[in-house]
Amino acid sequence: MKLAVLVSGGGTNLQAIIDKIENGTIKNAEIAVVISNKKDAFALERAKKHGIAGVCISPKDYATREAFNDALLASLNEYQVDLVVLAGYLVIVPKNVVDAFENRIINIHPSLIPSFCGDGFYGLKVHEAVLARGNKVTGATVHFVDDGTDTGPIILQKAVYVQEGDTPEVLQKRVMEEAEWNILPEAINLIANDKIEVVDKLVRSK
Ligand code: GRF
Repeated sequence: MKLAVLVSGGGTNLQAIIDKIENGTIKNAEIAVVISNKKDAFALERAKKHGIAGVCISPKDYATREAFNDALLASLNEYQVDLVVLAGYLVIVPKNVVDAFENRIINIHPSLIPSFCGDGFYGLKVHEAVLARGNKVTGATVHFVDDGTDTGPIILQKAVYVQEGDTPEVLQKRVMEEAEWNILPEAINLIANDKIEVVDKLVRSK
């Protein structure tokens, strides 16, 4: 199964996928391309270091949003992508891509959906809100992407305890280490080996 991993930042989730493909934890999958909307995203460096194609497709480089949307879809088709993995991708996935890849786009979100998700909840903001609310447990979610924001069928979730004195940065790191870097590769492995299906918007084992 050919993957496209879409990134905007540091790429630690990308690195977890690369490492688990290389050590055989993820089977029957390869990263065909890493696509970033930011040309200076360190995630592109990580791809390069592992001999993986990396391209920057940024809305800023196109006269219209439609032209960007078309360029993104064209790139996915050029690399014959089967599964699109959003790993810290901060661009709203355009409708033409969502429609072309129904139940073939997954996203990692740093909370237990449906808590602390939707518009405005990304990156550190999620953890700031968790701490402000006083939650004792948070975590991460991998879900299929549909035409909403963080609203698609849930594939995997993993809970992480909030600790006294956590700062947003400390909590983010724990959620990444204990949850994100495990459930995103696991979800890819389930899909690449045909272990799950979506029935009436719910994910179930095959
Ligand atoms: C992570 O916090 C992830 O939960 C969110 O965006 C961030 C990506 O981090 N989707 P990285 O680029 O994978 O390090």
